[in-house]
Amino acid sequence: MTARIRRLDWPLMRNNITRADLDAVIEYLRGPDPMLTQSRQVEAFENEWSQWLGVKHSVFVNSGSSANLLTLAALRETSGTGEIIVPPLTWVSDIASALQCGYTPVFVDIDPRTLGMDAGQVLRKVGPRTKAVFLTHVLGYNALTRELLDGLKARNIPLIEDVCESHGATFEGRKLGTFGAAADFSFYYAHHMSTIEGGMISTGDPQLYETLRMLRSHGMVREARSEEVRRGYRERHPDLNPDFIFAFPGYNVRSTELNAVIGRAQLKRLDANNRVRSENLALFLEGLDPARYRTDFRVEGSCNYAFTLVLKHADPRLCERVMEALRSCGVEFRRGTAGGGNQLRQPYLKKLLGEHAAADYPNVDHVHFYGFYIGNYPDLERSKIAELCALLNGLKEGA
Ligand SMILES: Cc1ncc(COP(=O)(O)O)c(C=O)c1O
Repeated sequence: MTARIRRLDWPLMRNNITRADLDAVIEYLRGPDPMLTQSRQVEAFENEWSQWLGVKHSVFVNSGSSANLLTLAALRETSGTGEIIVPPLTWVSDIASALQCGYTPVFVDIDPRTLGMDAGQVLRKVGPRTKAVFLTHVLGYNALTRELLDGLKARNIPLIEDVCESHGATFEGRKLGTFGAAADFSFYYAHHMSTIEGGMISTGDPQLYETLRMLRSHGMVREARSEEVRRGYRERHPDLNPDFIFAFPGYNVRSTELNAVIGRAQLKRLDANNRVRSENLALFLEGLDPARYRTDFRVEGSCNYAFTLVLKHADPRLCERVMEALRSCGVEFRRGTAGGGNQLRQPYLKKLLGEHAAADYPNVDHVHFYGFYIGNYPDLERSKIAELCALLNGLKEGA
């Protein structure tokens, strides 16, 4: 049956960096003596991003993973180590950064309708050693609930939002990334917008902002924006050259002017692209057979660069048929959503937590074995969405 299907030639992402973006770089390079290392373009991009998101401060770094690492390194400086509540369905760097910064990750299963951590379980796992909840908004679905926000506030636990997969998605009409102490974004090619590689940390907290700026550049005090902060260090360390005072064991995760030029060009069309993506997702979910596939995702406020295709039941034969059908018509896909599925099945966590920890998170495991993601980009032809749904709905269930 699949032999009759025309090839759809549907990659995970297409045209995410356009001719216009490249022309902006060329124009910048043609200018008089263009600066290449981090300077005014980076600063302008940070300001424009803060304005777009609705936060006070943003720090541009060289990847979303660097954003994760810096955020937790900054948290360690202000709050010390302890436990961080994280989902097993996320990118490796959310958990790796916790481990690298000396935190103990505490895992929580997902709500199948948002793919984000279940709010009730998060609150039940908060304890005396909890330093933060590091929540991931998976593939454009909002993972916040009023219960979670109020519960964390009442317990005085900071929330960190990983919005690397959800630029522009909202909760209660406000953009994700504005609810927590800090929010991390990725501009990797496959995401809503791209700076080739890149990431952003956004925060409303001026002290955290200063710490992040210093951590980004070797922990150097001269990177602090506030003269008061710089003066404080100078006065406390008169034996040091003021240009080379290292406040923290920092990193070098800066990006460059060229990446910022691309980011500024990209940001101009992000909202328009996101509107198309949301319409595409609605078509996809409406087109799927709810008896075979999960179609009840909480789409309100969502903004996805990928279609989530999750089987309704644990049906290994249908799963095989789905993969065969996608391959046969040239639709690229990832299993277990974006990041390798259940992180507790990955060797780096099995080494810490043993062979069987993964099974304690059945909703994540279902996505691991029976979930896929498929590209959703602005110039995806709508007719292809309908064709793919028809193909998937025609696949036989079970043996
Ligand atoms: C949820 C999430 N967090 C963090 C990252 C890391 O971003 P990057 O690939 O820019 O390092 C990703 C990457 O794809 C991600 O999906």
